Amino acid sequence: MARLPPVRWWRDAVVYQVYVRSFSDSDDDGVGDLDGIRSRLGYLELLGVDALWLTPFYRSPMADHGYDVADPRDIDPVFGDLAAFDALVEEAHRHGIRVTIDLVPNHTSSEHGWFRAAVESAPGSPERARYHFMPGRGPDGAEPPNNWQSVFGGPAWTRVPDGEWYLHIFAAEQPDLNWTNPEVWADLEKTLRFWCDRGVDGFRIDVAHGMSKPDGLPDDDRTDAARELLADHDGDPRFDHEDVHDVHRMIRAVLDHYPGRMAVGEVWVRDSERFARYVRPDELHLGFNFRLLQTGFDAAAVREAIEHSLESVAGVGACPTWTLSNHDVSRPVTRYGGGALGTARARAMALVTLALPGVVYVYNGEELGLPDVELPDWALQDPVWERSGRTERGRDGCRVPIPWEGEGPGFGFTSGEPWLPMPAEWSALTAATQLEDPESTLSLFRRALELRHDHPGFRGSGIEWFGAPPGCLAFRRSGSTLVCALNTSDTPVPLPPGDVLLTSGPLLDDGRLPPDTAAWLA
Ligand code: GLC
Repeated sequence: MARLPPVRWWRDAVVYQVYVRSFSDSDDDGVGDLDGIRSRLGYLELLGVDALWLTPFYRSPMADHGYDVADPRDIDPVFGDLAAFDALVEEAHRHGIRVTIDLVPNHTSSEHGWFRAAVESAPGSPERARYHFMPGRGPDGAEPPNNWQSVFGGPAWTRVPDGEWYLHIFAAEQPDLNWTNPEVWADLEKTLRFWCDRGVDGFRIDVAHGMSKPDGLPDDDRTDAARELLADHDGDPRFDHEDVHDVHRMIRAVLDHYPGRMAVGEVWVRDSERFARYVRPDELHLGFNFRLLQTGFDAAAVREAIEHSLESVAGVGACPTWTLSNHDVSRPVTRYGGGALGTARARAMALVTLALPGVVYVYNGEELGLPDVELPDWALQDPVWERSGRTERGRDGCRVPIPWEGEGPGFGFTSGEPWLPMPAEWSALTAATQLEDPESTLSLFRRALELRHDHPGFRGSGIEWFGAPPGCLAFRRSGSTLVCALNTSDTPVPLPPGDVLLTSGPLLDDGRLPPDTAAWLA
């Protein structure tokens, strides 16, 4: 199988997240698949990305669209088979694109052979010891063993017929593995090697702050207000337990045997020092810092998020990892206000992010400026919808399939019925339409990625801040020439000195930078 040179390629890479279900459907069952991705490699090369992150394509009953894995070393038939996977990796490499894949070590599917055996076995059996099975509390053990809540709503425990309860931090179909059990470790190691041997270039570790749990699974005694801040998880007994770092050391030790492979963690830990522990030299290569994604369109807050992210990795010599978007959060266009305003702001923030040193992740459809879709109740599939008692609509709105071409739903994604309805007005946002239009968001991304890749101004691993008018920010890549300016105020401002390389929207006739716009200069 063709391999690209084994360097630390990720350090300034642009990685494109493919939500496999929604990217491209080759067999017209309405669900994206591996052959569909392979058919779009030309587009991805044109876009200029260095690598892909594929969301889970393993055997799965799809209770959480593949994050409930029934066999981590096989492909679900809805996505293809191992031959299709090998073909994808090989052809991606021929296009100069690396392939990284998602691993889900915190939990399995309830249809995994291990869990089925656990349910069929007696309390106290070795089969149950791979998960967290416990007797309940209260009369007849009818109350869950502790007060933990599922991230998706409702209790984090479900009872089996013999009266024991099992832990699931996510859906009931996603039982948590017991990371004190050596078989669980051995299995992840086997999975890592399996995919490395098939030629993958790295892994995204799902819920990298999960896995290990405190002894005895004590109650969560935080106040309701503290618990509301779910994304932060600070002080949350379900996450960021000390022993999880041993798991990451094991992952790193395996990957160190395979030059040129990396691991990036999904680390929802806000505290800088605690976050930095995940990217120490013997742990994960990269960790998503979600601060920028959680920040509104406000220059001071954006600057603070950037500074925080840089500081938190600098102390351990790791590389910053930026993201504005993924399959779990509202899309930037919508988050920043929707419509033309949201689009202008999302374009501006894309330039800010792509000017930064380190790795940038782009979520499929972000380069098309797609907004969230307001889906009708009948279409909703995210387990969050049912588990929240239909009070939270969940994440389907940011997962609607990619519009490739044409005038009507399907839009070249599928000739069948797309698994989530695609809005008719997306005919204006298809990749084909945007490729023809030099002002489109796709054209902006293509130009930005090309400059980031080829222009000498993008060297330098730090940034220096310039003074900027209120509501604005400006920084330069240290030791280099690229300057990025952002205007989040409501008045036009003069640009810093330099030649304009690219702007997220038109400058004013007098050369000033309008509101909701960013510029690159050198
Ligand atoms: C991660 C994934 C999310 C999934 C959850 C449970 O947060 O990004 O999509 O639902 O883990 O696996």
